[in-house]
Parts: sequence; structure tokens; C-alpha cells
Amino acid sequence: MIKKLISEKEINSKIKELSNTLYQEYKDEEVVFICTLKGAVFFTCELLKHYKGDARLEFLRVSSYSGEKSSGKVELNLSISEKNIKDKNVIILEDIVDTGHTLKFLKGYINDMSPKTLKIVTLLDKKERREVSIDADYSCFVIDDLFVVGYGLDYDQKYRNLPYIGVIQK
Ligand code: IMP
Ligand code: MG
Repeated sequence: MIKKLISEKEINSKIKELSNTLYQEYKDEEVVFICTLKGAVFFTCELLKHYKGDARLEFLRVSSYSGEKSSGKVELNLSISEKNIKDKNVIILEDIVDTGHTLKFLKGYINDMSPKTLKIVTLLDKKERREVSIDADYSCFVIDDLFVVGYGLDYDQKYRNLPYIGVIQK
């Protein structure tokens, strides 16, 4: 059974608000949004549907081989061409920041391609789980140390299609 933690309505209204905040920052400057697969897919679609500015869309895929505990080893599975990043305003869209290892890797990877600006935006943030000191520029929701699923997030590739964020009840 899944217990609902954040409703679809709450999520979508927060994302819409964030989309407007980002537009106020960048106005008519081009922004390259990077969706980190697979978890950030729903978040990316909802954010971009409401974004009023000049938006481009790219995809990245990383996986972390963590087992029970995060080892901090992050591997790139789908890369981005440097010409799409260099001298551009870039925003990385993440589903959730947990230990911070993935985000640290992503930030380094994109920064090496010399973007004009770089910001990190995440749907969920488990602040108390951080192992490396790194933060997103915007988090829609800060949550407790719970394993959540839905709205793109999975447990063993399941539950991504739930329209809300929930917690699996044992
Ligand atoms: P980090 O490197 O520990 O920050 O892990 C980030 C990645 O772990 C996320 O992008 C997710 O793919 C996964 N993850 C962390 N916490 C959760 C969770 O509660 N539910 C689903 N996936 C999670
Ligand atoms: Mg992820």
C-alpha cells in the first residue's frame, strides 16, 4: 500500500510557481533545461508546460551504484554535447537530492562544459541525508528521511506512474 505524502494538486501548483519564478530570473534569455532521466521526467514536463520564456530541452542519464548505502560512485549513461551547454544559461532538473553525490557529479560534469550560468532545481530535497555539502538553488519540497515513490520516482523501476508522491507502507 502507498500512503500519499504530497498530492498531485500541491505538486503541480508548486511547480507552476517555480516556473514563473524562473521566468522572472531569465526573462527573454534562452535557457537550456536538462532533465535527468528517468526520475525528473514528470517534473520537467510540468515545469516546461508553464515556462513562458525561450526554453531548450536536453536529457542526461546517470546511475549511482549504491546497493544498500550510497557509495558515491556515479556513472554517466547518456551524455550531452558540449555545444548545447557552452556559454548558455543552464538549469539541471533533478527529481530528488538525497546524499548529494549525484548532484555533485552532475554539477561538475556540466560546469566542465563552461555554461554561462548554472542552476540546480529539484522537486524533492532530503536535506538531512546529505553526505557532501551541496545544495540545489531551488527545491519544491523539503522532505524527511523517507523513501518516496511516484511522480517519476521509482522503487525498483515501479510506481513512477503514480500522479502523487507517496511512501510505501510495509
Ligand atoms: P543521491 O546521489 O544520494 O543524492 O541520490 C540521488 C538519486 O537517488 C535520486 O536521483 C534518485 O534516483 C535516488 N533516490 C534517492 N532517494 C530516493 C527516494 O526516496 N525515492 C526514489 N529514489 C530516490
Ligand atoms: Mg534521479
